[in-house]
Amino acid sequence: MNLVLLGPPGAGKGTQAKLLEDSRSLVKLSTGDMLRAAVAAGTELGRKAGDIMERGELVPDDLVIKLIAERIDAKGGVKGFILDGFPRTIAQAEALDRLLKERHKRLDRVIVMEVDDDALVERIAGRFACADCGEGYHDLYKMPKVPGVCDRCGGTQFVRRRDDNEAVVRSRLKAYHAQTEPLIDYYTRQGKVRAVDGMADIATVQEEIDQALESAGA
Ligand code: AP5
Repeated sequence: MNLVLLGPPGAGKGTQAKLLEDSRSLVKLSTGDMLRAAVAAGTELGRKAGDIMERGELVPDDLVIKLIAERIDAKGGVKGFILDGFPRTIAQAEALDRLLKERHKRLDRVIVMEVDDDALVERIAGRFACADCGEGYHDLYKMPKVPGVCDRCGGTQFVRRRDDNEAVVRSRLKAYHAQTEPLIDYYTRQGKVRAVDGMADIATVQEEIDQALESAGA
């Protein structure tokens, strides 16, 4: 099964992608995580992407498509992929259709996570992650069970993202509405869209996604 999680910044795509990875043995492919890794490693891609990401704009399609194609090929034998943060433009969605077809794979479901814009700024401002394993947390909604210790790996260092401030979040939201939201129509025409209420708590959203995947026969 291959699926796309689609939604604005802070909708909970990364949170749910991790849960799905654990519960369904699928591989999570997050272009945001890949690009941040490239920036941290100082690669050529990272140098091209870093300033764009800090402004909250989208990285050029050709760079992101190349990145995702390489990753899909590197993980060829897996049960399926959860695409988190990709595609984000119509050109990326068309490229994904082509590259899956060429590899005799298909996209089964597109889960659209619906969240109010106002809630997103609060969610993003409270977000932090384990520096070692990347497990995500939130100051209000998901704190580590033992304060200061990661639930997943026991790490004690935590980090916050550079693009998680209000001005950049507004710019990321603008990019979402202008360039990514049209994908909902694109995938509705393919009969693949299921919407979930991303305003519910994390466990409830997870249940809704599970139901949406069962109805795909997945
Ligand atoms: P990316 O890393 O993809 O960021 P994003 O789409 O802006 O999404 P986020 O990671 O901010 O949010 P999320 O939906 O994963 O929410 P999360 O689960 O963390 O992209 C970053 C940048 O990279 C882009 O701006 C762009 O420049 C570039 N880029 C990436 N992909 C690209 C592409 N394909 N093309 C071009 N450029 C690209 O949740 C947020 C917080 O809320 C967490 O703290 C979490 O614990 C909490 N939370 C989650 N769910 C709930 C809930 N149900 N209730 C309460 N709290 C919740």
